Amino acid sequence: MSVIQVHDKKFQPYIGEQQLQERIREISAALSNDLKGKKPLFIAILNGSFMFAADVFKNLTIEAEISFIKLVSYKGTKSTGNVVTSIGLDEDLYGRTVVILEDIVDTGKTLSQFLPQLEHQQPEKLLIASLLTKPEAMKYPIKIDYLGFSVPNKFLLGYGLDYDGLGRNLPEIYQLVE
Ligand code: IMP
Repeated sequence: MSVIQVHDKKFQPYIGEQQLQERIREISAALSNDLKGKKPLFIAILNGSFMFAADVFKNLTIEAEISFIKLVSYKGTKSTGNVVTSIGLDEDLYGRTVVILEDIVDTGKTLSQFLPQLEHQQPEKLLIASLLTKPEAMKYPIKIDYLGFSVPNKFLLGYGLDYDGLGRNLPEIYQLVE
């Protein structure tokens, strides 16, 4: 692995493929152990989480379902401000064990706006699994139940994360060279 260029910026190797896969196997093992017999519903948030979701899901050893959603942000009324809503969630969450799969929790804004909508459906349990989080950037505290890596507040690329549309295909994670 070496420094790569995407659009106008340079990125250096940060988390290798093997390290990523090892950590994901540990997360899947913990989920399989904790949620045995619960038939959890995994909800992967697109676009960024598609690789993480696929790798977590294929390493599970329990019965589980998965659904993919996209979050869209639009301007609400003056009192509601920006509203985040989902496209593609057809499942009924009532009484279910639900695990959100996220690529990265950065400021926490997206999830903090979206989670109440899921809670409204009264799942038995609502858990969050995120590959990455940037504690220094967190403005809306989110409790992450299953975390891959805690990282500094620098822009990352690869393994589902993009820079202006590119870089999602990289099997490892790169960090912006400043
Ligand atoms: P939040 O609402 O600030 O937590 O935003 C989270 C979303 O921002 C993630 O799901 C990513 O799509 C995007 N994001 C945050 N940090 C990065 C990064 O370092 N690289 C690429 N996308 C990022």
